Amino acid sequence: MRGDEFVSQLHQEIEERLEHLGRLSGAGEAPVDLTIERLLIVALKNELEATEVAAIWMTDTQELDVKLSLARQVGDEAKHYRAVCDRLKELGNDADLIDPRQNGYSPLFHYLIGLKGTIQRIAAGQFAREGVALVRNQCFIEYCESLGDIQTAALYRDVIQPDERHHHELGRKLLARYAEDPLAQSEARQAASRTIELAEEIQEMARLKAGVSRAPGC
Ligand SMILES: [Fe+2]
Ligand SMILES: [Fe+2]
Repeated sequence: MRGDEFVSQLHQEIEERLEHLGRLSGAGEAPVDLTIERLLIVALKNELEATEVAAIWMTDTQELDVKLSLARQVGDEAKHYRAVCDRLKELGNDADLIDPRQNGYSPLFHYLIGLKGTIQRIAAGQFAREGVALVRNQCFIEYCESLGDIQTAALYRDVIQPDERHHHELGRKLLARYAEDPLAQSEARQAASRTIELAEEIQEMARLKAGVSRAPGC
């Protein structure tokens, strides 16, 4: 199978799981103490982890186009972090006092930084993780709108989502270029699948332990 055919097939395979993840994220009544601020603090952690993973990978990825796409992602995710901080401040939180590393890094972060192959990195980090982010952010935007927080909704819809879409599309393009043989395609499929699985587990844990659903992605 050619790389572009493979990517279309993989996209179809994961689409259903992403939709499921979105449904889970928005399922049930939101607890009354589930404020936008609480969810934005979760977002800080996701943005920091996305920044750091891309930065770590950038240093030892050999393919120049992938290295540069990771560089752009580092900048974008750090910009998202800053934008979320600014919004938290507008909502009355001293976001500079928050350190998202306080409770450690997520299992997804540890899984991602352990990936050494370029194909796996593109499939997991850009293609799948950014796909997850798109679905979760959409769910978060709808939640903000339902609570009348138009400004936070606009930040996500107009500033953050276009970047996450770009990262995901870049993942598609690079996968089509590099996932050309059966071994590479099987590695890509496995990495994308594991990423979504971990995202599901983390989401479910957050819901069970802290009643957090509808949290934005990276
Ligand atoms: Fe992203
Ligand atoms: Fe982001």
